[in-house]
Amino acid sequence: MARLVIVSNRVPPLRSTSAVAGGLAVALEEAVRRTEMLWFGWSGDISDSRELKTASMKLRSQALIDLTEEEHRLYYGGFCNGTLWPLLHYRFGLAEFRREEEEAWRAVNERFAEALWPLLREDDVIWVHDLHLFPLGAMLRARGARQKIGFFLHVPFPPPALFAALPRSEALLRDMAGFDLIGMQTEEDAAHLRDAMALVGVDRPVHAYPVGIDAEAFARAAAKAVRRRDVLRFEESLMGRKLILGVDRLDYTKGLPQRLEGYGDLLARFPEHRAKVTFLQAAPLSRSDVKHYKLLRRQLDELVGRINGEYADVDWVPLRWTTRPIQRSVLAGFLRIARVGLVTPLRDGMNLVAKEFISAQSEEDPGVLVLSRFAGAAGELKGALIVNPNDPDEIAEALDEALTMGLAERRRRWQRDFETLRAAGASQWSRDFLRDLGETAAR
Ligand code: G6P
Repeated sequence: MARLVIVSNRVPPLRSTSAVAGGLAVALEEAVRRTEMLWFGWSGDISDSRELKTASMKLRSQALIDLTEEEHRLYYGGFCNGTLWPLLHYRFGLAEFRREEEEAWRAVNERFAEALWPLLREDDVIWVHDLHLFPLGAMLRARGARQKIGFFLHVPFPPPALFAALPRSEALLRDMAGFDLIGMQTEEDAAHLRDAMALVGVDRPVHAYPVGIDAEAFARAAAKAVRRRDVLRFEESLMGRKLILGVDRLDYTKGLPQRLEGYGDLLARFPEHRAKVTFLQAAPLSRSDVKHYKLLRRQLDELVGRINGEYADVDWVPLRWTTRPIQRSVLAGFLRIARVGLVTPLRDGMNLVAKEFISAQSEEDPGVLVLSRFAGAAGELKGALIVNPNDPDEIAEALDEALTMGLAERRRRWQRDFETLRAAGASQWSRDFLRDLGETAAR
């Protein structure tokens, strides 16, 4: 295959990726191991420099640009995370619209196009990622690009009538004509975008390609992680209590208040679990400069205090809460120890934590996944206990069912899901997408 050019807002460090590293890099690596790859995006630095930062290692190279403070604030904190993020996750009421931010978003996309264009070769295959970069394909076409350009949206896409609330949404949809193939996480998302594009007369293939993980490699890493000193120490601190585990960026799409309420309801309605379980919710801070993220953090701090205040005993803290980042290799160990994985986003493109929880479990004595019906992963993980994440009572009932489920049923459910994940692996996603992109008609 010709060189693959990946474009995304965030770019992972240029070193070999392990199975537990997570993210786009892992999902890509296996499929394109022997392919030359250029990764283009934001350096993560804020400065007024216009210089391109480049680096390379064997078949991998990077070209990165800095953003100015104003660009970063308006494009990333503003239009991407204050407007598009809530709207694409069906949270119309949280979306704020400012023309100035939309213009900055377009201007940053123009900067990406301008810096990338001279680096491109005629036979490159270009793959653009996520909501930050919707207009990039059209902007490269405007400069004369005739390469294959694909796009993948990692987040959901709402029904067209909801998306239409976005001012100038038609322009965004028309820009999709710059891509030869558009990938989404689920069939439902694909249908929504297809219908929205049809309203403005854009006809481009839109298909579902669910992102996967390398389940076997993750399982090995998790089995190894439980021998780490820090993981052992954590396990000891549980004093034999069953662990319920939640791991999410601190984001209002993750359903954290409802989830904590659900746990409180479990302790209220099923008192036999008191002092027999510990719930660890890890919620590393994310986008903490954006208004609704600040508000959510305060709300959760209060809720955690209330639940612990109500149910804690002198020798038992029912809910452990941390907003600090946890190393992914440690997390793999925690996921293996957990008896229940609690993954209840109100909307989520895919949710790889759900897949990582299943992969991390031991075959002999697996735990149970409690999963939101509104996570893309619910389309594949049929062995999970599926809940409506808006209803704390339903979460409490599912937790009770998971905590009391017998070994035979846990094994049956787990085996089914692990097999699903194993069969797809990490590479099916990118292999299928790139194959289909290659088969689209030349411009
Ligand atoms: C989601 C988005 C990604 C984003 C990631 C982390 O998974 O789909 O595009 O990179 O969240 O968010 P951040 O704003 O820190 O990049």
